[in-house]
Amino acid sequence: MPSYEPILTKNMLTPGYTGSLVDYERAGGYQALRKVLGKIAPDDVTAMVIKSGLRGRGGAGFPTGVKWGFLPKDYTGPRYLCCNADESEPGTFKDRQLIERDPHQMLEGMAITCYAIGAETAYIYIRGEFVLGAKILEKALAEARAAGYIGRNILGTGINIEMWLHRGAGAYICGEETALLESLEGKRGLPRVKPPFPATHGLYNKPTVVNNVETLANLPYIVNRGPEWFASIGSPPKSTGTRIFCVSGHVKRPGNYEVPMGITCRELIFEHAGGMRSDKPLKAIIPGGASAAFFTDQHLDVKLDFESVAQAGSMLGSGGVTIMEEGTSMVWAALRLMEFFYHESCGKCTPCREGTSWLVQTMRRIWTRRGRLEDLETLTDLCQNIAGRTVCAFGDAAIAPITSTLKHWRHEYEELIRTAEAAGSAELVMPATRH
Ligand SMILES: Cc1cc2nc3c(=O)[nH]c(=O)nc-3n(C[C@H](O)[C@H](O)[C@H](O)COP(=O)(O)O)c2cc1C
Repeated sequence: MPSYEPILTKNMLTPGYTGSLVDYERAGGYQALRKVLGKIAPDDVTAMVIKSGLRGRGGAGFPTGVKWGFLPKDYTGPRYLCCNADESEPGTFKDRQLIERDPHQMLEGMAITCYAIGAETAYIYIRGEFVLGAKILEKALAEARAAGYIGRNILGTGINIEMWLHRGAGAYICGEETALLESLEGKRGLPRVKPPFPATHGLYNKPTVVNNVETLANLPYIVNRGPEWFASIGSPPKSTGTRIFCVSGHVKRPGNYEVPMGITCRELIFEHAGGMRSDKPLKAIIPGGASAAFFTDQHLDVKLDFESVAQAGSMLGSGGVTIMEEGTSMVWAALRLMEFFYHESCGKCTPCREGTSWLVQTMRRIWTRRGRLEDLETLTDLCQNIAGRTVCAFGDAAIAPITSTLKHWRHEYEELIRTAEAAGSAELVMPATRH
């Protein structure tokens, strides 16, 4: 058992806990909702969340209460909450576990959020592949509705909060909040130009909050135990609370680990995930999902909190931590990720649509020993022409595997190219065909 207190995974780590409403209530579930509904003013709930320091767990790490505060105060029409349960970032699998093992925790967090922002309708946008999660959520929603925690006149307070589950069709881009909103409206999931932001022009052009599953799951505990308690966990003042890190790759015990924000990469890998799978030296770490720049073994003592990871040149992102051992080709690893991004580019912005295609073609040519040294300049040039030139952050995410592997392991690219040149297999022209 860990020496710190798990928050979000505490129930599911309790033997016999099924995630049913009865089990959740027995563990103190829905007490936070009872505490706030009609008893604490909505703005005070928002103030509490600001004070806790909670930041979004979906990727960007935006302060949650501050985001809620952006909704217009004087607007009397409908407003919405959307729970982002799309979780399609490679190497990330925490939301799935929260949904499957303790669904009411997130539903209670959603109800608290709806109350704070004045929304009577909330949607859960769940990725299409989460078939089991969708079934579990439908059941949990029915249980919560029957018990009076959602629906009309919740717990006799006169407050209405309805929640609906919407299954996506399996597109990575629909995790991006504005593409999610488009998809929820029945349109093709393409990101919107921001501003305006969802806070004022969101779902159906109405004020909307989009929050991640893990973000929302924290709320009952912030209400029950107070913002000061939450703010004392992790790396205050800017990275408070715990984080569920999804550890995958060449470790002995891959899995989800909920730890206080600010433990080092070394502690996460060697104390929690059991160390390296084959006891080979560690070569690379992706600290925050496929969109995050690679770290090397020199980064083992970087703290896993928002600031430290950013200062070290990457991002905490989705919490997906992928470990690679000595012997892994970094060119191959970057190519695999690049193929994912190429496949998932929605096509709206030319630099991303065309650039990811050319990046994949150039990377494939290097990996299959047909590359030339000039290809490295082409890769850099392509990345520079994608960075900051797209409507959403997908473009910046897509180039991270290449820019970071070129920075740390350029020699691996050069070795493959030298092999091609020595064998006379380097190609002068890029194949004209698109794949
Ligand atoms: C390409 C792309 C994919 C994203 N995918 C997800 C996702 O699967 N789940 C998620 O919660 N956030 C995802 N995000 C971040 C969302 O746009 C948004 O910032 C987040 O849902 C806000 O919730 P939070 O403040 O609670 O983190 C993605 C962003 C981008 C640019």
